[in-house]
Amino acid sequence: MSGQALAAPPVAPLAEAPARKADAGIRDRILQLRDGLSHGLIGAEKLVERLLIGLLTGGHLLIEGAPGLAKTRAVKRLSDGLDGSFARVQCTPDLMPADLTGTTVWRQDAGTFEFLPGPLFHSLILVDEVNRAPPKVQSALLEAMAESQITVSGHTHRLPDPFMVVATQNPIEHAGTFPLPEAQLDRFLLHVVVEMPDEASERRILDLVEGELNHHAEAMPVKLSVAEVIAAREAALATYVSPALKDYLVRLVSGTRTDAVAPDLRASIEHPASPRGTLALMVAGKARAYLHGRDHVVPEDISELAADALSHRIGLTWRAAAEGRTTRGIVGGLVARTRAL
Ligand SMILES: Nc1ncnc2c1ncn2[C@@H]1O[C@H](COP(=O)(O)OP(=O)(O)OP(=O)(O)O)[C@@H](O)[C@H]1O
Ligand SMILES: [Mg+2]
Repeated sequence: MSGQALAAPPVAPLAEAPARKADAGIRDRILQLRDGLSHGLIGAEKLVERLLIGLLTGGHLLIEGAPGLAKTRAVKRLSDGLDGSFARVQCTPDLMPADLTGTTVWRQDAGTFEFLPGPLFHSLILVDEVNRAPPKVQSALLEAMAESQITVSGHTHRLPDPFMVVATQNPIEHAGTFPLPEAQLDRFLLHVVVEMPDEASERRILDLVEGELNHHAEAMPVKLSVAEVIAAREAALATYVSPALKDYLVRLVSGTRTDAVAPDLRASIEHPASPRGTLALMVAGKARAYLHGRDHVVPEDISELAADALSHRIGLTWRAAAEGRTTRGIVGGLVARTRAL
């Protein structure tokens, strides 16, 4: 056995070139997916980038925005560009954990129990208005997100790969909602805020949707297979992060914990970001670098994503909240005042 291994010809240098070619081909397909998404989502480049970062890292997204800002449309469009299965769950206060996980039923004819999988067994899941679901449902969902498996009636079931949850919540409604606890928010890779479109974009939205009503909907230009998504993820996660950039990441996140960067901003923070936040920012930065065609992460990848990766992981003091400060504002301030390299 070992003799055979020693006698094996040195194939590695020859095998490298085709592998790089395949990587480039997959990146092109990801860029086609990005263009297809952007085409149907006017002025939503930031949201499109975040969706792709989630896809490329195996991360889950929490999208916040007022009603009617194309959140559902964005996720549906992403699913049109993927070969995996798609499910949508509308959360209400009477939702039960089994409505997500599935349930075991007794088959009288066969004399056996049969597991009927719920929506969590799809590759891409849109969980609309997650803050309307009761805490038991939220914790079933977030456990699935953290562990990629669920346990029903004592049996553990693996969830598919890729498995991506995109949850939405509406910031203006408070009545009848169950805000996600901080520990559960930490499960989301990114917290994305969708803004109102500007006038020029809104005008383009009218033309686009009018065209679609007249049956001129443009199909997605690609449909990525599960294998392609996994290959793209491997390539994205292999993006290089220099030691100096890792130091920057740590400095930035430490700014939420110690007074080293900005004592005035730190004083507003009750719960700082955990190492999971630092890791999330690094991984998201890798995916952004990959999307921008680089084989290495640059400080801008980190600074651009810092608010989305960290703001939902920190808690404000009651005084800072009463003064109208926001976690996004605090992270933005830390980014502005942390030395990058
Ligand atoms: N940026 C945009 N690009 C294209 N269409 C848009 C855009 N913004 C809004 N729309 C259109 O507005 C309508 C509402 O979109 P959608 O249902 O996806 O919103 P939503 O954010 O999911 O709303 P809700 O919070 O109520 O679920 C759709 O017809 C959609 O095509
Ligand atoms: Mg919606």
